[in-house]
Amino acid sequence: MNDIKNLVSQLTLEEKAGLTSGKDCWLTKAVERLGIGSARTSDGPHGLRADDYSRDDHATMPAVCFPTAVTTAASFDREMLFEMGKELGRECQSYGVDVLLGPGVNIKRSPLCGRNFEYFSEDPYLAGELGAAFVNGVQSEGVGTSLKHFFANSQETRRFTSSSEIDERTIREIYLPAFETVVKKAQPWTIMASYNKINGTYSTANRLYLDEILRKEWGFEGLVVSDWGATHDRAAAVEAGTDLTMPAEDTDRQIVEAVKNGTLSEEALDLCCERVLELVFKSEKNRRRELPFDPEAAHALSRKCAADSLVLLKNEGGMLPLSKGDKIAFIGAFSKTPRVQGGGSSHIRETKLTSALEAAAEAGVSVTYAAAYNPETGESDENLIAEAVKAARSADKAVLFIGLPDSMEYEGGDRPHMKLPEAHDRLVREICKANPETAVVLHNGSPVEMPWIDQPKAVLEAYLGGQAVGGAVVDILFGDVNPSGRLAESFPRRLEDNPSYLYYIGEGDRVTYNEGIFVGYRYYETKKQEVLFPFGYGLSYTEFEYSDLSVKKAGDGAEVSVKVKNVGVREGKEVVQLYVAPEKVKMIRPKRELKEFAKIDLRPGEEKTVRFSLPARAFSYWDIEAHDWKVESGKFGVEICKNAHEAIMSGEVEF
Ligand code: GLC
Repeated sequence: MNDIKNLVSQLTLEEKAGLTSGKDCWLTKAVERLGIGSARTSDGPHGLRADDYSRDDHATMPAVCFPTAVTTAASFDREMLFEMGKELGRECQSYGVDVLLGPGVNIKRSPLCGRNFEYFSEDPYLAGELGAAFVNGVQSEGVGTSLKHFFANSQETRRFTSSSEIDERTIREIYLPAFETVVKKAQPWTIMASYNKINGTYSTANRLYLDEILRKEWGFEGLVVSDWGATHDRAAAVEAGTDLTMPAEDTDRQIVEAVKNGTLSEEALDLCCERVLELVFKSEKNRRRELPFDPEAAHALSRKCAADSLVLLKNEGGMLPLSKGDKIAFIGAFSKTPRVQGGGSSHIRETKLTSALEAAAEAGVSVTYAAAYNPETGESDENLIAEAVKAARSADKAVLFIGLPDSMEYEGGDRPHMKLPEAHDRLVREICKANPETAVVLHNGSPVEMPWIDQPKAVLEAYLGGQAVGGAVVDILFGDVNPSGRLAESFPRRLEDNPSYLYYIGEGDRVTYNEGIFVGYRYYETKKQEVLFPFGYGLSYTEFEYSDLSVKKAGDGAEVSVKVKNVGVREGKEVVQLYVAPEKVKMIRPKRELKEFAKIDLRPGEEKTVRFSLPARAFSYWDIEAHDWKVESGKFGVEICKNAHEAIMSGEVEF
């Protein structure tokens, strides 16, 4: 550290000001005179969007596109997120990238947010746990991350100017915890301050969150970088603790003037420079460009991550898995050109794509194909539909691939509704009429309405599952993989049922989070609002039985154990979900909240005991008088649930 302080003391004021903004879109500024190099950042959360510096058309290098966060969140698998992060770290090393700009852990307040596909969940505990696993994975290979977007960046509409107006308890219980968990469990090299304001002050100029809470309360040791273009006042940003403003901008003199006229202390500026230098030297020290990276192995890992994340939503009469001897029709252009990622800064150039059609052929299964619709627009016509119906009718089983086209969900915009393209809804009805043995495969980055849900025999949610998602879908359709995904977000039956519906987007630049802590299942379960599919929901090709739940008070928390047995005939993975359900308490609380989970693999007949230790925090609420976490006296249910709606068994502790 003192080397760095010493180095900073040798910088001129102009050089200091220059260090706190980028050299270009991705690099920090070097100071050759003092042997200070640059650190190189690059998007994004599920794959590397590295500029191809050998070209001047802003083309990016080909990179492996892993499943997006909405998909991997459904794995509920910390180890998997770690492995995926590790592979991305190796790829960054091979490309000379020092900091990967992800993960995104913003909480999903509404199904409409255009970037929901880039974020994990409506639940802060799940988002924090998986975000921390991902960060630890990437950083285990000597590559940094940027935890984003800090915070309450819950919509794309007017994202550069809107103010998220949120009460203190909701901020603490819903919008901060995922960031807190990642900081405390993984120490991301950087955190990205979001575009929006929080209660009227831009995140990049918000000292309360960037310094008081992030650094002093949580112990964050890294660097705060602005989102690209999110700094509006360079001196205010430095004062608040935004150490680096990206990308390059011609405003360094604002800092020089502020220091000269005394409105900005040079100590604050020195502190930012120290953190920039720490990042640069840490990057240099950790570079391992020779680290072997094999895109084919990464592609295979991407397929495995997707297969362990996809969610089986319906499987009437055990229609799935299909047998490879069936006469099968794959209907829908997404079976040939699957949607694998979303639009915007996270969009990368895949090294290759495996579609369901190709994967079926590789698996030795001959399927017929009908496009049924235009994959870009989602539109269809009578001929395409007639051809699709014909294909369905002449097959034993039909698999209909539908979903949202790229044009309906992307960074920079929010969806106006939750509907699928009209032609896709119509195709479900037409194909199911032509062949009742129909399964639907969905490609979408956020919940959609399914007015036809009673018609297909099976529904598989394949989300935006990365470049090998077609292979993962085929692995599950034919039973090579037993699906084990569980929804990391609620699917309301219709948009109007969502708790943010009346207020989402806000009025002008004021966006009031009136639903407070009642986000997602916290609302639906407390209000007993029926949903299409609840948070935590997902089917398997086998069955699991639970027994011997033990819940014991331990210190100011609790020790929990439960036995889980695979009582089916196939190996399978189960997600054990533990919720705390306050019973006799005074505070207004959600009916239940996820406070632990574990994913276990069980062979037929195998039984395992799962143990959890719950800290006091698992029972706490944020007390706005004390400005601290509190466990109120009362009784608390400790529930093992199939999902947020179905408790299997519960115990009780009293404080
Ligand atoms: C974008 C995004 C952020 C991304 C950055 C660099 O606007 O908000 O997620 O990492 O700018 O592309």
